[in-house]
Amino acid sequence: MYRYDEVDHRIVRERVEQFRDQTQRFLSGELAEDEFRPLRLMNGLYVQRHAPMLRVAVPYGHLASRQLRKLAHIARKYDKNYAHFTTRQNIQFNWPELARVPDILEELAEVEMHAIQTSGNCVRNTTTDAFAGVAQDEVLDPRAYCEIIRQWSTLHPEFAFLPRKFKIAVSGSVEDRAATQVHDIGLHVVRNETGEVGFKVIVGGGLGRTPIVGEVVKEFLPTRHLLTYLDAVLRVYNRFGRRDNKYKARIKILVKAMTVAGFAAKVEDEWLHLQDGPSTLRDADVAHYASFFTDPAYDLLPSNPPELVEKQATEPAFARWLERNTRPHKQAGYRSVVLSLKKTGVPPGDITAEQMDAAADWADRFGYGELRVAHEQNLILPDVRERDLYEVWQLAKSQGFATPNVGLLTDIICCPGGDFCSLANARSIPVAEAIQTRFDNLDYLFDLGEIDCNFSGCMNACGHHHIGNIGILGVDKNGEEWYQITLGGSQGSHTTIGKVIGPSFAQADVPLAFEKIMAVYLEQRTDGERFIETVRRIGLDPFKERVYAKHH
Ligand code: HEM
Ligand code: SF4
Repeated sequence: MYRYDEVDHRIVRERVEQFRDQTQRFLSGELAEDEFRPLRLMNGLYVQRHAPMLRVAVPYGHLASRQLRKLAHIARKYDKNYAHFTTRQNIQFNWPELARVPDILEELAEVEMHAIQTSGNCVRNTTTDAFAGVAQDEVLDPRAYCEIIRQWSTLHPEFAFLPRKFKIAVSGSVEDRAATQVHDIGLHVVRNETGEVGFKVIVGGGLGRTPIVGEVVKEFLPTRHLLTYLDAVLRVYNRFGRRDNKYKARIKILVKAMTVAGFAAKVEDEWLHLQDGPSTLRDADVAHYASFFTDPAYDLLPSNPPELVEKQATEPAFARWLERNTRPHKQAGYRSVVLSLKKTGVPPGDITAEQMDAAADWADRFGYGELRVAHEQNLILPDVRERDLYEVWQLAKSQGFATPNVGLLTDIICCPGGDFCSLANARSIPVAEAIQTRFDNLDYLFDLGEIDCNFSGCMNACGHHHIGNIGILGVDKNGEEWYQITLGGSQGSHTTIGKVIGPSFAQADVPLAFEKIMAVYLEQRTDGERFIETVRRIGLDPFKERVYAKHH
C-alpha cells in the first residue's frame, strides 16, 4: 500500500491549516457564503439537507486497517456513529458540525487521508477494480498507475478549475470491474499484438442527466505515455469544454459535439507537444510506485483444504455465503471476502463505527492489514486463507456483514436520496428497503441469480441507475415522490444504458412491479440464462405487458 512521503505529509498538513483558517473566517462572518463555497468544495464539504456532508477520499478504494479505525473514531466522535460508502469508493460523513471539520481533517491527516478534490470541478478520486492486485484475471496490477494519476492530479494547477468535475477509472483485468465506460476517462489495460501491455483509452462516458457510454480515443497507449496523454485530453477539454451551461459542461458533451474522431484528432495534436516530454514515465518511476504494491508474504497453501470442504458440505448456509460473498484469489489457498453492506433494513453502503473497528481487526488478524471499498458499496477483505473462511463467516454474521447477496437483486447500489441529499426528487433508502424485504427469501433470491439493481434519487445518477440491469430513478410529480424503472442496463466491458419501461410508480407499488418483472423472467428464461440475457433476448415488451396489465 502506498505510504506518504515528506512532501505528501506537508501538502496535506498545510491544507488542513489553510482550511481551518478559512472555516474560522467564515464562521466569524469575515467570508461570505459565496466566498466560502468554492473553498469548502475543494475539501469535499457539501452543505446538505441536515448538515454539511464531508466526503473523504479513499484512493482507488484502498484502506489500511489503521485508516478504517480512524474512520470509526471519526464516526463516533464527530458524527452519529456511522458513515456511508459511495459508488466511487469514497466514504461520506453525513452529520459533522462545520466548526469541527478542520479537526476531522487533522485526524485524517494523521493516517494519510484527506478530502482534497472529492468535490468541485477538478479531477476526482481515481477509482479501480476492488480486486486489483488479487484478481485471477488481472493483466496488470493497476494500483501503481492509480497512485501515479493521484499524484499527478492532486493540486494540478492547470486542472484545478475545469469546466466540470472529472472522473477517471482504471481497470487492470480482462473483465472491467471499474465501470470505465461511464467515466470521463476510462483506462482499460490491454495487450497489443506483440504482447506489450498498455491502456485502451475511453473518453466521454458518464451518467447524470445525459447518460453516455464512453468511446475509444486510443486503442493502445504504451504505459510510459500515460501522463502526457492524460495531460493532452485534459487540455483539450479545459480549452474547448463549455463553461456557459453547467448541464453541457462535462467532457461527454464536448466529445459528442466534436465527434469522437474530431476529439481524438485534437488530442493527438496536443499530444505532439507533450509526447516524450518530462512527464513521460521512466521505468524507475513506475518501479518506485509499484514497490508499494508488492504481494504480501503469502503462505504456500493447498486449495480447498479439507476443513473448508467439510464445512461446505455440512452447513448449507456457509456454502451459500462462500459461493456468493467470496471470490477466487490469484494465490492458491486464499480467497477475497466481500463484507456485504446490504443487509435488509440498513441503508445500502452504510457502516457503523463498531463494524468498521471489527472489519479492521479482521483485516489484521486474517490478512495483511488491508481492505478495499467496492464500487458496489461493499467492503472487502482481499486476502483471507481458505482455512479461516468459516471463522470469518461467523464473525461477519455477528456484525451483520454476512447477508449472502453479493451480486444478487438485494445487493442494491443506492444513493442517499431524499433522506440526506438536497438535490433529491425522492427518497431511495425506504424503497430499497422495501425491495430487500420483498425479496428476503434466500432460496428465491438465489434462484433469480445475478441481477444488478441500481437506484438514484434524482437524474444526477449517483446510484448509477442507468447501468443497473434493473434501475430505479426517483422523479418528482407535482411535489410527490414517484419512481421510474429501467431495464437492460449493464456495467462491465460491454456497458449498456437501460430503457424506461413506462410510466413511473408510486412508492408502495415499486416492490410489486419488481415481482412482476421477476415473474416474467422466471417464465421466460432458458437454462442458465441470467436476467440481463433474458431481457436482451426477449426485449422490454413482455415485461411492460405484465407490469402495466390491468388484471395482474
Ligand atoms: C449527497 C450529496 C451528493 C450530491 C450533492 C451529489 C451531486 C451530484 C451531481 C450534481 C451529479 C451529476 C453531475 C453531472 O452529471 O455533471 C452527481 C453524479 C454522480 N455522483 Fe453524486 N452527489 C452526492 C452524493 C453522491 C453519493 C453518495 C454517491 C455514491 C453513492 C455519488 C456518486 C456519484 C456518481 C457515481 C455520479 C454519476 C457519474 C457521473 O459523474 O456521470 N454522489 N452527483
Ligand atoms: S442521485 Fe440525486 S438524490 Fe441521489 S445523491 Fe445524487 S444528487 Fe442526491
